[in-house]
Amino acid sequence: MIEKLKQVIEEIKVLSINNADELEVFRIKYLSRKGIISDLFELFKSIPNDQKKETGKVMNELKQTAEIKYNELKVVFGDQQKEEKTATDISLPGEPIYLGSRHPIYIFQNKVLDVFRKLGFTIAEGPEIEDDWHNFSGLNFPDNHPARDMQDTFFINKDYSLRTHCTSVQVRIMENQSPPIRVVMPGRVYRNEAISARSHCFFHQIDGVYIDKNVSFADLKQTLYFFVKELFGEDYGIRFRPSYFPFTEPSAEMDIACIICKGTGCNVCKHTGWLEILGCGMIDPNVLQVNGINPDEYSGFAFGMGVERTTMMLYGIKDIRVLSQNDIRFLSQFSSQ
Ligand code: DAH
Repeated sequence: MIEKLKQVIEEIKVLSINNADELEVFRIKYLSRKGIISDLFELFKSIPNDQKKETGKVMNELKQTAEIKYNELKVVFGDQQKEEKTATDISLPGEPIYLGSRHPIYIFQNKVLDVFRKLGFTIAEGPEIEDDWHNFSGLNFPDNHPARDMQDTFFINKDYSLRTHCTSVQVRIMENQSPPIRVVMPGRVYRNEAISARSHCFFHQIDGVYIDKNVSFADLKQTLYFFVKELFGEDYGIRFRPSYFPFTEPSAEMDIACIICKGTGCNVCKHTGWLEILGCGMIDPNVLQVNGINPDEYSGFAFGMGVERTTMMLYGIKDIRVLSQNDIRFLSQFSSQ
Protein backbone atom coordinates (compact mmCIF):
# COMPACT_ATOMS: atom_id res chain seq x y z
CA MET A 1 0.00 0.00 0.00
CA ILE A 2 2.81 2.37 0.88
CA GLU A 3 4.27 1.85 -2.56
CA LYS A 4 0.96 2.67 -4.15
CA LEU A 5 0.65 5.85 -2.05
CA LYS A 6 4.15 7.02 -2.94
CA GLN A 7 3.40 6.44 -6.58
CA VAL A 8 0.31 8.67 -6.38
CA ILE A 9 2.34 11.37 -4.55
CA GLU A 10 4.88 11.41 -7.37
CA GLU A 11 2.11 11.44 -9.94
CA ILE A 12 0.60 14.51 -8.31
CA LYS A 13 3.91 16.33 -8.01
CA VAL A 14 4.76 16.04 -11.68
CA LEU A 15 1.26 16.64 -12.96
CA SER A 16 1.12 19.81 -15.02
CA ILE A 17 -2.02 21.92 -14.66
CA ASN A 18 -2.40 24.89 -16.99
CA ASN A 19 -5.75 26.44 -16.36
CA ALA A 20 -8.80 26.56 -14.11
CA ASP A 21 -10.56 23.77 -16.00
CA GLU A 22 -7.64 21.40 -15.60
CA LEU A 23 -7.46 22.31 -11.92
CA GLU A 24 -11.10 21.37 -11.51
CA VAL A 25 -10.46 18.03 -13.20
CA PHE A 26 -7.59 17.52 -10.74
CA ARG A 27 -9.80 18.33 -7.77
CA ILE A 28 -12.47 15.90 -8.83
CA LYS A 29 -9.97 13.14 -9.60
CA TYR A 30 -8.00 13.36 -6.33
CA LEU A 31 -9.79 15.40 -3.71
CA SER A 32 -13.51 14.91 -4.18
CA ARG A 33 -15.58 12.53 -2.07
CA LYS A 34 -15.39 9.90 -4.78
CA GLY A 35 -11.79 10.75 -5.72
CA ILE A 36 -8.64 8.65 -5.50
CA ILE A 37 -7.57 9.87 -2.06
CA SER A 38 -10.95 9.15 -0.58
CA ASP A 39 -10.81 5.62 -2.01
CA LEU A 40 -7.35 5.10 -0.54
CA PHE A 41 -8.63 6.16 2.90
CA GLU A 42 -11.32 3.47 2.59
CA LEU A 43 -8.62 0.96 1.75
CA PHE A 44 -6.52 2.21 4.68
CA LYS A 45 -9.27 1.15 7.11
CA SER A 46 -8.82 -2.46 6.15
CA ILE A 47 -5.04 -2.84 6.46
CA PRO A 48 -3.56 -4.69 9.47
CA ASN A 49 -3.18 -2.53 12.58
CA ASP A 50 0.57 -2.89 12.79
CA GLN A 51 0.96 -1.25 9.39
CA LYS A 52 -1.38 1.60 10.16
CA LYS A 53 1.12 3.95 11.78
CA GLU A 54 3.63 3.95 8.92
CA THR A 55 1.00 3.85 6.19
CA GLY A 56 -0.96 6.63 7.91
CA LYS A 57 2.04 8.96 7.66
CA VAL A 58 2.31 8.44 3.91
CA MET A 59 -1.48 8.76 3.57
CA ASN A 60 -1.28 12.19 5.23
CA GLU A 61 1.64 13.19 3.05
CA LEU A 62 -0.40 12.30 -0.02
CA LYS A 63 -3.41 14.26 1.15
CA GLN A 64 -1.30 17.33 2.00
CA THR A 65 0.55 17.18 -1.31
CA ALA A 66 -2.74 17.20 -3.22
CA GLU A 67 -4.27 19.94 -1.08
CA ILE A 68 -1.25 22.24 -1.24
CA LYS A 69 -1.00 21.87 -4.99
CA TYR A 70 -4.70 22.53 -5.36
CA ASN A 71 -4.71 25.59 -3.08
CA GLU A 72 -1.67 27.17 -4.69
CA LEU A 73 -3.01 26.77 -8.21
CA LYS A 74 -6.43 27.93 -7.16
CA VAL A 75 -4.95 31.30 -6.21
CA VAL A 76 -3.33 31.57 -9.64
CA PHE A 77 -6.24 30.45 -11.80
CA GLY A 78 -8.99 31.85 -9.57
CA ASP A 79 -7.60 35.39 -9.98
CA GLN A 80 -7.14 34.87 -13.67
CA GLN A 81 -10.80 33.94 -13.95
CA LYS A 82 -11.88 37.03 -12.08
CA GLU A 83 -9.77 39.25 -14.30
CA GLU A 84 -11.30 37.74 -17.38
CA LYS A 85 -14.78 38.57 -16.09
CA THR A 86 -14.13 42.20 -15.18
CA ALA A 87 -11.88 43.15 -18.05
CA THR A 88 -13.37 45.86 -20.27
CA ASP A 89 -13.73 44.96 -23.89
CA ILE A 90 -12.78 48.26 -25.44
CA SER A 91 -13.73 47.03 -28.88
CA LEU A 92 -17.45 46.94 -27.95
CA PRO A 93 -19.55 49.78 -29.42
CA GLY A 94 -20.38 52.48 -26.84
CA GLU A 95 -23.74 52.73 -25.08
CA PRO A 96 -25.75 55.54 -26.70
CA ILE A 97 -26.59 58.48 -24.42
CA TYR A 98 -30.13 59.61 -25.13
CA LEU A 99 -30.72 63.31 -24.74
CA GLY A 100 -33.83 64.30 -22.82
CA SER A 101 -36.25 66.72 -24.43
CA ARG A 102 -37.72 69.94 -23.20
CA HIS A 103 -41.43 69.78 -22.47
CA PRO A 104 -43.50 71.73 -25.05
CA ILE A 105 -44.99 73.83 -22.23
CA TYR A 106 -41.53 75.01 -21.26
CA ILE A 107 -40.42 75.49 -24.86
CA PHE A 108 -43.25 77.98 -25.28
CA GLN A 109 -42.77 79.47 -21.82
CA ASN A 110 -39.08 80.10 -22.52
CA LYS A 111 -39.95 81.84 -25.78
CA VAL A 112 -42.33 84.16 -23.94
CA LEU A 113 -39.87 84.88 -21.14
CA ASP A 114 -37.14 85.63 -23.68
CA VAL A 115 -39.28 88.36 -25.25
CA PHE A 116 -39.90 90.04 -21.90
CA ARG A 117 -36.24 89.71 -20.93
CA LYS A 118 -35.45 91.81 -23.99
CA LEU A 119 -37.71 94.53 -22.57
CA GLY A 120 -35.85 94.51 -19.26
CA PHE A 121 -38.30 92.38 -17.26
CA THR A 122 -36.88 90.07 -14.61
CA ILE A 123 -38.38 86.69 -13.72
CA ALA A 124 -39.91 85.78 -10.36
CA GLU A 125 -41.65 82.72 -8.95
CA GLY A 126 -43.90 82.23 -5.95
CA PRO A 127 -45.38 79.37 -3.92
CA GLU A 128 -48.10 77.11 -5.32
CA ILE A 129 -49.76 76.84 -1.90
CA GLU A 130 -50.96 80.33 -1.25
CA ASP A 131 -52.77 82.17 1.54
CA ASP A 132 -56.00 84.07 1.05
CA TRP A 133 -54.26 87.44 1.10
CA HIS A 134 -51.90 86.79 -1.80
CA ASN A 135 -54.38 84.91 -3.95
CA PHE A 136 -57.48 87.03 -3.28
CA SER A 137 -57.68 89.82 -0.71
CA GLY A 138 -54.44 91.58 -1.70
CA LEU A 139 -55.83 91.67 -5.24
CA ASN A 140 -59.01 93.47 -4.34
CA PHE A 141 -61.27 90.41 -4.06
CA PRO A 142 -63.45 91.47 -1.07
CA ASP A 143 -64.66 88.73 1.32
CA ASN A 144 -67.77 87.07 -0.05
CA HIS A 145 -67.48 89.07 -3.24
CA PRO A 146 -68.88 87.15 -6.21
CA ALA A 147 -65.59 87.70 -8.00
CA ARG A 148 -64.19 84.86 -5.90
CA ASP A 149 -66.58 82.55 -7.69
CA MET A 150 -64.71 83.30 -10.91
CA GLN A 151 -62.10 80.87 -9.70
CA ASP A 152 -62.97 77.36 -8.62
CA THR A 153 -60.51 76.92 -5.86
CA PHE A 154 -58.88 73.87 -4.23
CA PHE A 155 -58.87 74.87 -0.58
CA ILE A 156 -56.37 73.20 1.73
CA ASN A 157 -58.01 74.71 4.79
CA LYS A 158 -59.84 77.93 5.63
CA ASP A 159 -56.69 80.02 5.13
CA TYR A 160 -54.73 78.26 2.41
CA SER A 161 -55.48 77.09 -1.11
CA LEU A 162 -53.61 76.01 -4.23
CA ARG A 163 -53.09 79.27 -6.09
CA THR A 164 -55.67 79.85 -8.79
CA HIS A 165 -53.50 82.26 -10.78
CA CYS A 166 -49.96 83.61 -10.96
CA THR A 167 -51.27 87.06 -10.12
CA SER A 168 -50.63 86.05 -6.50
CA VAL A 169 -46.91 86.49 -7.17
CA GLN A 170 -47.60 90.10 -8.16
CA VAL A 171 -48.72 90.79 -4.58
CA ARG A 172 -45.50 89.26 -3.23
CA ILE A 173 -43.46 91.41 -5.60
CA MET A 174 -45.27 94.60 -4.62
CA GLU A 175 -44.74 93.96 -0.92
CA ASN A 176 -41.03 93.25 -1.38
CA GLN A 177 -39.91 95.70 -4.06
CA SER A 178 -40.42 99.36 -4.70
CA PRO A 179 -40.99 100.84 -8.17
CA PRO A 180 -39.80 100.78 -10.84
CA ILE A 181 -40.96 97.15 -11.01
CA ARG A 182 -40.80 95.08 -14.19
CA VAL A 183 -41.33 91.39 -13.59
CA VAL A 184 -42.75 88.34 -15.37
CA MET A 185 -44.01 85.45 -13.23
CA PRO A 186 -44.38 82.00 -14.75
CA GLY A 187 -45.83 79.06 -12.85
CA ARG A 188 -48.40 76.35 -12.38
CA VAL A 189 -51.90 77.13 -11.17
CA TYR A 190 -54.82 74.98 -10.01
CA ARG A 191 -58.57 75.13 -10.45
CA ASN A 192 -61.27 72.73 -9.40
CA GLU A 193 -62.46 71.85 -12.88
CA ALA A 194 -63.49 68.60 -14.51
CA ILE A 195 -60.66 67.17 -16.59
CA SER A 196 -61.38 66.84 -20.29
CA ALA A 197 -59.59 67.19 -23.61
CA ARG A 198 -59.96 70.97 -23.35
CA SER A 199 -59.55 71.75 -19.66
CA HIS A 200 -57.50 70.48 -16.75
CA CYS A 201 -57.41 71.08 -13.00
CA PHE A 202 -53.86 72.38 -13.27
CA PHE A 203 -52.19 74.42 -15.96
CA HIS A 204 -49.58 77.14 -16.43
CA GLN A 205 -49.75 80.89 -16.55
CA ILE A 206 -47.33 83.73 -17.12
CA ASP A 207 -48.21 86.98 -15.44
CA GLY A 208 -46.42 90.25 -15.93
CA VAL A 209 -46.38 93.55 -14.09
CA TYR A 210 -44.87 96.97 -14.74
CA ILE A 211 -45.11 99.72 -12.14
CA ASP A 212 -43.44 103.10 -12.45
CA LYS A 213 -44.30 106.77 -12.67
CA ASN A 214 -46.65 107.67 -15.54
CA VAL A 215 -47.28 104.16 -16.82
CA SER A 216 -50.31 104.28 -19.10
CA PHE A 217 -52.59 101.99 -21.08
CA ALA A 218 -50.56 102.99 -24.16
CA ASP A 219 -47.49 101.39 -22.54
CA LEU A 220 -49.48 98.21 -21.91
CA LYS A 221 -50.64 98.05 -25.51
CA GLN A 222 -47.21 98.76 -26.91
CA THR A 223 -45.61 96.09 -24.73
CA LEU A 224 -48.15 93.50 -25.84
CA TYR A 225 -47.82 94.50 -29.51
CA PHE A 226 -44.09 93.96 -29.22
CA PHE A 227 -44.67 90.62 -27.53
CA VAL A 228 -46.95 89.36 -30.32
CA LYS A 229 -44.63 90.68 -33.03
CA GLU A 230 -41.63 88.88 -31.52
CA LEU A 231 -43.49 85.63 -31.01
CA PHE A 232 -45.67 85.40 -34.10
CA GLY A 233 -44.17 87.86 -36.57
CA GLU A 234 -44.74 91.33 -37.95
CA ASP A 235 -48.31 92.57 -38.58
CA TYR A 236 -49.95 89.78 -36.64
CA GLY A 237 -53.61 90.61 -36.03
CA ILE A 238 -54.39 91.78 -32.49
CA ARG A 239 -57.42 93.24 -30.72
CA PHE A 240 -58.43 94.34 -27.23
CA ARG A 241 -61.87 93.78 -25.71
CA PRO A 242 -63.10 95.39 -22.49
CA SER A 243 -63.29 92.93 -19.62
CA TYR A 244 -63.38 92.73 -15.85
CA PHE A 245 -60.83 91.65 -13.25
CA PRO A 246 -61.01 92.77 -9.60
CA PHE A 247 -57.36 93.86 -9.62
CA THR A 248 -57.29 95.97 -12.79
CA GLU A 249 -59.21 99.04 -13.88
CA PRO A 250 -59.77 99.35 -16.77
CA SER A 251 -59.43 95.70 -17.72
CA ALA A 252 -59.20 94.09 -21.14
CA GLU A 253 -58.74 90.80 -22.86
CA MET A 254 -56.40 90.52 -25.79
CA ASP A 255 -57.08 88.34 -28.82
CA ILE A 256 -54.68 87.44 -31.57
CA ALA A 257 -55.51 86.29 -35.09
CA CYS A 258 -56.17 82.54 -35.00
CA ILE A 259 -52.87 80.65 -35.25
CA ILE A 260 -54.51 77.93 -37.33
CA CYS A 261 -56.49 79.92 -39.95
CA LYS A 262 -54.65 83.27 -39.59
CA GLY A 263 -57.96 85.04 -39.07
CA THR A 264 -60.07 83.63 -41.86
CA GLY A 265 -62.18 81.43 -39.56
CA CYS A 266 -61.94 77.75 -38.61
CA ASN A 267 -63.19 75.26 -36.03
CA VAL A 268 -60.46 76.11 -33.53
CA CYS A 269 -61.45 79.80 -33.35
CA LYS A 270 -65.14 78.93 -33.70
CA HIS A 271 -65.11 80.82 -37.01
CA THR A 272 -64.39 84.16 -35.34
CA GLY A 273 -60.83 84.38 -36.67
CA TRP A 274 -59.64 85.36 -33.15
CA LEU A 275 -58.14 83.56 -30.17
CA GLU A 276 -58.18 84.97 -26.67
CA ILE A 277 -54.70 84.73 -25.24
CA LEU A 278 -54.49 86.96 -22.20
CA GLY A 279 -56.17 89.22 -19.67
CA CYS A 280 -54.67 92.58 -18.80
CA GLY A 281 -55.35 96.06 -17.48
CA MET A 282 -54.13 98.99 -15.43
CA ILE A 283 -53.47 97.92 -11.85
CA ASP A 284 -56.34 99.10 -9.67
CA PRO A 285 -55.15 101.96 -7.40
CA ASN A 286 -56.63 100.04 -4.44
CA VAL A 287 -54.27 97.15 -5.16
CA LEU A 288 -51.26 99.46 -5.24
CA GLN A 289 -52.42 101.13 -2.03
CA VAL A 290 -52.95 97.98 0.04
CA ASN A 291 -49.59 96.66 -1.10
CA GLY A 292 -47.69 99.73 0.05
CA ILE A 293 -47.29 101.58 -3.25
CA ASN A 294 -48.59 105.13 -3.44
CA PRO A 295 -51.16 105.26 -6.30
CA ASP A 296 -50.85 109.04 -6.51
CA GLU A 297 -47.21 108.67 -7.41
CA TYR A 298 -47.18 105.42 -9.33
CA SER A 299 -49.30 103.57 -11.83
CA GLY A 300 -48.83 100.20 -13.46
CA PHE A 301 -50.14 97.64 -15.88
CA ALA A 302 -50.44 93.90 -15.51
CA PHE A 303 -51.29 90.98 -17.72
CA GLY A 304 -51.72 87.24 -17.36
CA MET A 305 -51.78 84.54 -20.01
CA GLY A 306 -52.46 80.82 -20.04
CA VAL A 307 -49.66 78.73 -21.49
CA GLU A 308 -51.41 75.47 -22.42
CA ARG A 309 -53.88 76.71 -25.00
CA THR A 310 -51.35 78.62 -27.06
CA THR A 311 -48.80 75.78 -26.81
CA MET A 312 -51.45 73.33 -28.02
CA MET A 313 -52.24 75.52 -30.95
CA LEU A 314 -48.62 76.07 -31.90
CA TYR A 315 -47.88 72.35 -31.94
CA GLY A 316 -51.26 71.09 -33.09
CA ILE A 317 -51.90 69.23 -29.81
CA LYS A 318 -55.56 68.19 -29.62
CA ASP A 319 -55.85 66.97 -26.01
CA ILE A 320 -54.58 68.95 -23.01
CA ARG A 321 -54.15 65.74 -20.99
CA VAL A 322 -51.14 64.57 -23.02
CA LEU A 323 -49.23 67.52 -21.60
CA SER A 324 -49.19 65.95 -18.14
CA GLN A 325 -49.19 62.23 -18.91
CA ASN A 326 -45.40 61.90 -19.30
CA ASP A 327 -45.78 59.61 -22.28
CA ILE A 328 -42.30 59.33 -23.73
CA ARG A 329 -43.72 58.76 -27.24
CA PHE A 330 -45.28 62.20 -27.06
CA LEU A 331 -42.44 63.99 -25.29
CA SER A 332 -39.66 62.64 -27.49
CA GLN A 333 -41.20 64.36 -30.49
CA PHE A 334 -39.84 67.61 -29.08
CA SER A 335 -36.30 66.32 -28.62
CA SER A 336 -34.70 68.62 -31.16
CA GLN A 337 -35.98 71.78 -29.48
N1 DAH B 1 -55.34 86.26 -13.20
C1 DAH B 1 -56.18 86.30 -14.37
C2 DAH B 1 -56.76 84.89 -14.63
O1 DAH B 1 -56.25 83.96 -14.10
C3 DAH B 1 -55.45 86.76 -15.58
C4 DAH B 1 -55.03 88.18 -15.48
C5 DAH B 1 -55.85 89.19 -15.94
C6 DAH B 1 -53.84 88.51 -14.88
C7 DAH B 1 -55.49 90.51 -15.84
C8 DAH B 1 -53.45 89.86 -14.79
C9 DAH B 1 -54.31 90.82 -15.28
O2 DAH B 1 -52.30 90.22 -14.20
O3 DAH B 1 -53.91 92.14 -15.15
O4 DAH B 1 -57.68 84.77 -15.37
